[in-house]
Amino acid sequence: MSSKTQKSQEKTMLRTLKGEVLKTPPLWLMRQAGRYLPEYKATRAEAGSFLELCDRPDLATEVTLQPIRRYGFDAAILFADILLIPRALGQKLWFETGEGPRLEPITEGAALAALNVDQVHKGLEPVYETVDLLSAALPPETTFIGFAGAPWTVATYMIAGRGTPDQAPAKKLAWEDPVLMGQLMEMLVEATSAYLLKQVETGAEVIQIFDTWAGGLPESLFDELVIKPTTQIVKNLKAVYPDLPVIGFPRGVGALAETYMKQTGVDAIGLDSGQSLTFAKEKLQPLGAVQGNLDPLLLIAGGEAMDREVDRIKQVLSHGPHIFNLGHGIRPETDPANVERLVKRVRDA
Ligand code: CP3
Repeated sequence: MSSKTQKSQEKTMLRTLKGEVLKTPPLWLMRQAGRYLPEYKATRAEAGSFLELCDRPDLATEVTLQPIRRYGFDAAILFADILLIPRALGQKLWFETGEGPRLEPITEGAALAALNVDQVHKGLEPVYETVDLLSAALPPETTFIGFAGAPWTVATYMIAGRGTPDQAPAKKLAWEDPVLMGQLMEMLVEATSAYLLKQVETGAEVIQIFDTWAGGLPESLFDELVIKPTTQIVKNLKAVYPDLPVIGFPRGVGALAETYMKQTGVDAIGLDSGQSLTFAKEKLQPLGAVQGNLDPLLLIAGGEAMDREVDRIKQVLSHGPHIFNLGHGIRPETDPANVERLVKRVRDA
């Protein structure tokens, strides 16, 4: 074992992902680099736009490091976006100010045929450079998380051309044209596996797969669009890196989280704020580490209400491997002082 590997084995996040139960859980927050931080807003302004920021390895590295400097989180997550994959495949992507992502929607075979999976690395080169810079710049105790969107969640944006409240365009396509949907899933599994393998090769130590829209699918679609593609990606990653820890975040799936853990081969699962902690303790922690699940709105409210919930989450999950996190990303209106209070509470109380 090289000394580099040996040192990384001691990181709290990696120990927890291997099943160790620590007195103080490792801590990081989804969207920890973002608009709630004044220093993020300054760097984003310097970049000019969010996508420019993703494409500038020096600035993407800087914003990844900002929350680590400020709060000393146990893990840093690569600054990028799940929609860089469709863009690298050839789908036009832009962000409407104050609204969110826009893509030219894929509704038929011709649009899918225009995408090119062989080109995917080329469009993602800035991300690989960011990973490379970060693996040299991060403090030795900080675990470096790479990520991608799960095929289903990425497909919901590719098909609708934007975020949707109920993912109806993608679900409708899945029922009406399962062959086209299957081809899109296959393309995304291939591109995402290649993307994540390259992130690990360049320095990421853990991978998180974000499946934001996994909840509410009928069981047959859940199996086809969430379980199958995710299982294949995990298999592709572990074929090259058998010991690579993978965290799945199938948001809003309730009791299907147990099926997800058993079938996909992930080492850990992210719990959204609506997930039952008793269920997590009894059914999920025996299968691996759990990560979550403080309500991001409570991080806006702050105060003693937040302290009490932090204590409850820690207490209920204290008998198995647990990574402290939110149930979804930090919101832009969050006061950075509340994040400071959260960090103290998780570590000191
Ligand atoms: O967690 C992190 O700090 C790492 C970086 C990261 C971002 N997006 C940066 C970002 C990660 C892991 C993501 C994942 C992502 N992106 C998801 C899955 C997780 C989730 O939040 O549900 C999804 C669905 C996306 C797609 C996306 N990107 C949307 C819908 C939006 C617009 C909404 C918003 O918050 O503005 C984005 C933009 C985005 N991605 C921002 C950041 C920091 C805000 C952009 C800005 O600075 O204006």
